[in-house]
Amino acid sequence: MRAAPARVVRLAAEDDWDGWRDAARRLLAARVAPDAIVWQARESADDLFAAGGNDLPPEPQLELRVPRAFPALAKSALLHKDSERFALLYRLLWQVTEHPGLLNDHADPLVRRVELMAKAVRRDIHKMHAFVRFREVEVLVEEGAEGHTRFVAWFEPEHHIIRATAGFFVRRFAQMAWSILTPELSVHWDGEVLSESIGADRSQAPSGDPLEDMWKAYYAAIFNPARLKIGAMTKEMPRKYWKNLPEAQLIAPLIAGAQAREATMVAQHVAPDERGISLQGLAEEAQECRRCPLWKGTNGCVFGEGPGDAKLMIVGEQPGDEEDKAHRPFVGPAGGVLDRALTQAGVERSAVYLTNAVKHFKFEMRGKRRIHQKPDTSEIEACRWWLDQEIRLVRPRTVLMLGATAVRGVTGKAATIGKMRGSPLHLPQGDGLVTWHPSYILRLPDKDAADRAYGNLVEDLSLALEKSREH
Ligand code: URA
Repeated sequence: MRAAPARVVRLAAEDDWDGWRDAARRLLAARVAPDAIVWQARESADDLFAAGGNDLPPEPQLELRVPRAFPALAKSALLHKDSERFALLYRLLWQVTEHPGLLNDHADPLVRRVELMAKAVRRDIHKMHAFVRFREVEVLVEEGAEGHTRFVAWFEPEHHIIRATAGFFVRRFAQMAWSILTPELSVHWDGEVLSESIGADRSQAPSGDPLEDMWKAYYAAIFNPARLKIGAMTKEMPRKYWKNLPEAQLIAPLIAGAQAREATMVAQHVAPDERGISLQGLAEEAQECRRCPLWKGTNGCVFGEGPGDAKLMIVGEQPGDEEDKAHRPFVGPAGGVLDRALTQAGVERSAVYLTNAVKHFKFEMRGKRRIHQKPDTSEIEACRWWLDQEIRLVRPRTVLMLGATAVRGVTGKAATIGKMRGSPLHLPQGDGLVTWHPSYILRLPDKDAADRAYGNLVEDLSLALEKSREH
């Protein structure tokens, strides 16, 4: 008997999860065996012929029952570059409908292969979130017209993850116009609409600009040679990505100077560890935080910044409008007051780990303006997890809390600043000090009261510096 000719199923794109799921449901319901199907993805956006014309069985009348873990696993694995993935997933689907416990058998060769594919995809997505670097370019739409700024990045993912990651960049850089160019596909955001175009060439991406210098300076400032673990670094940041990272050009000279600087640090009793690397990982994870609804409508999470081994940590309330746009704490008006007070107290901002109790900007819209709103207790509680991790990793000797929200974030308790300032609290991790929040000082209508509170802030910063140097 001659075998029936294989049925060809063409999907609309390499990452066409909806198309695969729809076809798989129909084929499975019609009991079309895995060996009888050839799966293909349409090769380019122009390959219109390939997009249609699938001769699929009708939509099934009944919902198919699959183990709960299957869709998430398959959705990730489907983005793998392995050309057999559509077929492997259909084979796995076929088997799990007969043996629903199969997904728990991690030694099963097919389950294992699909799990490894999903894991590789998740890792690639994580890398893309972490290592895309935008460069600012001036875009001229027409001759003689005024140009506008666009941020352009070049990235080479291993798998078909561009569409899957686009949402992350939209959320994180909602206010910017940006493009991410990749060999397979390019995505563009104009502040309102996400669009796509064909893949690009590395030569089409810009390289070298003033922003890069700023980034390099920042990276050099936070680079701690004692934490330099080449193995861990190359594991987290494979060499493949180095060529796209402006800061990677600094790695060789920094490594070269690391030994001498590490010796100095050991002499200063600074234990080498991986705190810097872990903090960076934490900051990346926090970008995906959905522990409370405050992430909605923001440009992302504003994580703490500063040396991972800072002796002094300063905790504020939450980022404001400017912090949300700049992705850095204390860069707006309250930051201006804090900077002035830090200078007067002799505290170097770059030596302090500066963070907030709540990591997303809470606001309400008034017309076109985003007006600050105080975070409530449940939001502070939800965000305490991140603050605890920062304190655990940085291990500051002294934590200075600016205002009642910071006190609640650090201690979990309510506070009256006027009563508490001046007397150190004994926190599990070291000394705690409490002072006025710079925004409170800015809001005081009475000039004398504002001057007094500002004077208190400078005093408390000096005390915090002193305490952080004790022990
Ligand atoms: N106010 C804060 O508490 N934190 C900031 O980062 C900015 C303003």
